[in-house]
Amino acid sequence: PVLVVDFGAQYAQLIARRIREAKVYSEIVPHTMPVEEMLARRPAAIILSGGPSSVYADGAPGVDSTMFDAGVPVFGICYGFQAMAQALGGTVAHTGNREYGGTKLTVLDPGVVFAGLPTEQDVWMSHGDAVSQAPDGFLVTAATAGAPVAAFENTDRGFAGVQFHPEVLHTAQGQKMLERFLYEVAKISPDWTMGNVIADQVADIKQRVGTKRVICGLSGGVDSAVAAALVHEAVGDQLTCVFVDHGLLRDGEAEQVEKDYVASTGIKLKVVDAQEQFLRELAGVTDPEQKRKIVGREFIRTFEAAERELIAEAGEHGETIEFLVQGTLYPDVVESGGGTGTANIKSHHNVGGLPEDLQFSLIEPLRTLFKDEVRQVGLELGLPEAIVWRQPFPGPGLSIRIIGEVTAERLDLLRQADAIVREEMSAAGLDRSIWQCPVVLLADVRSVGVQGDGRTYGHPIVLRPVTSEDAMTADWARVPFDVLSRISTRITNEVAEVNRVVLDVTSKPPGTIEWE
Ligand code: XMP
Repeated sequence: PVLVVDFGAQYAQLIARRIREAKVYSEIVPHTMPVEEMLARRPAAIILSGGPSSVYADGAPGVDSTMFDAGVPVFGICYGFQAMAQALGGTVAHTGNREYGGTKLTVLDPGVVFAGLPTEQDVWMSHGDAVSQAPDGFLVTAATAGAPVAAFENTDRGFAGVQFHPEVLHTAQGQKMLERFLYEVAKISPDWTMGNVIADQVADIKQRVGTKRVICGLSGGVDSAVAAALVHEAVGDQLTCVFVDHGLLRDGEAEQVEKDYVASTGIKLKVVDAQEQFLRELAGVTDPEQKRKIVGREFIRTFEAAERELIAEAGEHGETIEFLVQGTLYPDVVESGGGTGTANIKSHHNVGGLPEDLQFSLIEPLRTLFKDEVRQVGLELGLPEAIVWRQPFPGPGLSIRIIGEVTAERLDLLRQADAIVREEMSAAGLDRSIWQCPVVLLADVRSVGVQGDGRTYGHPIVLRPVTSEDAMTADWARVPFDVLSRISTRITNEVAEVNRVVLDVTSKPPGTIEWE
């Protein structure tokens, strides 16, 4: 792999993704990892990421200079550039010139990294101090007003670096620079594709599983759907999926899992219809936390029962179920410390949660992938676009989009309104530009309206379209007025008991995306 050394800023994941976009596999490692350990992974190159603003910052981590004696190509970015300069005998100075944001870069000598790129370009800077002198043997390739040494390279040794951030979109030529480093300096061939990922995973899973059996919980979301499809590709009918229909999904979603998904994958699916059970448990409950707890609890209960049944059935045929599939993604792995071992754990997880006394080995075929890569794998495995491009949807489903008690009638109303919203948003081509659009029923609120000659006294529906990068923060989406207008007209005409449609124009923070 190419190792991206994370110095603690938010850029490491972005750099790792850009490298993968160049069809080169990358992994993130913490800067605290000893150099020997990094080298033991036989990196094709090492990228030092951004981090604290300056090598002079309090507690700023350095780079162990033995990294540069191993014959491994290294590319330094921002802080990593300064740390690299310092470790190789260059000078980093307090310039007093802070540069932050878009900056003009002038190429002095294109060298290898800038060859073929414009001599004047826009780059994204974020630094206090700057390299004032490049290490011996290095060619200074570019400068900005605040950074006389904004880029350097020593391609004989396989080293290069830039003061700015090539990984952000504001640096227009950034991807090209990274690619030139990877292909021309580090001499790595771009052969990491989703096709290869699938082939590797399939071979690996086959080997691990042998003739044993595997189970997987499907949530209706992208990750579990793709993970299961990948495992199915490897072991076919040794895999059984469990899908709990709790009746809190949107119109057509349960059918999508039951029909489209099965049709496109051929997976063996056990569907548990638990709609009545969930409604019964939710009856009379209005508190959001309470609803979440109930749905979580019932989900686990139902899932456990289904698994025990499967295990019993397998046992009758003399088989054991040893493996459980989970759709864990790479960002979860990085954020939880980044271990690489696949532990034999007593599980407890986000899809089902398992009985304490069941021991499974985990299969996590998406552990090395980012979300966009998971989608590509799904497409290559032939999953329907509606599943692969599904927007986020909360585990507790529509129960937390009915403000008030959850009943079958209310779920029905909300499903109708939601179906209209999704239909119109899709027709307007907005599915990929908005993050998601919760549709909320204010079930305990009524307002006066007029329809035909009559007075109505109905419920409002709230539209909550948002844009977001990661759901941590969000902004209300500027959905075109004509789309909103069509949605409003259709909902009030087609959904009995709804006589008003309102738009939520709150960012997050202070509002969360969901209303409960
Ligand atoms: P909030 O409402 O906290 O939501 O701004 C952030 C994102 O998380 C989704 N969400 C959930 N997803 N289980 C989930 O799997 C949950 O309990 C849950 N609650 C919120 C929400 O749809 C949004 O994308």
